[in-house]
Amino acid sequence: MTLAFTVPGLDEAASEKAVAILQNRLAQEQEAALVLKHAHWNVTGPNFIAVHEMLDPQVEVVLAQADETAERIATLGGAPDGRPEAIVRARTWKDFDVEGRKSTVDYINALIEYYDGFIADDRKAVEELDELDFVSSNIIQDHVQELEKFQWFLRSHVA
Ligand SMILES: [Fe+2]
Repeated sequence: MTLAFTVPGLDEAASEKAVAILQNRLAQEQEAALVLKHAHWNVTGPNFIAVHEMLDPQVEVVLAQADETAERIATLGGAPDGRPEAIVRARTWKDFDVEGRKSTVDYINALIEYYDGFIADDRKAVEELDELDFVSSNIIQDHVQELEKFQWFLRSHVA
């Protein structure tokens, strides 16, 4: 990967590593928006409207996260890849495998599990970015805080 430039005070090697980590997080943030909409459309049964309507704000937040991550990549001189193929290529995490009309509990439990991986990978990215670029680390720290809150919302539906 060749960077167009680097920000002042950050060397190229660190920038390249930070961009690679951010690109991986961008892919999952984009995927999360798709997964959450999929659940929003297919969830059925008791508490339908509560769960259906709970998910749209989460979609908006993860899309805003993706935008922020992509623009951080561009700020660091990189070129964010927002194509569907980039999401699939980057995926090291377990895919979301619940499909069709399923109960609120089924979708909520699957989303809690999805957030488990998402949060753990974001936390790992924060640790790695801390060594490379604390500004990028700070951005993902803010993101993971929102994800942890959303997982708590989901947990509160099935407690
Ligand atoms: Fe909708």
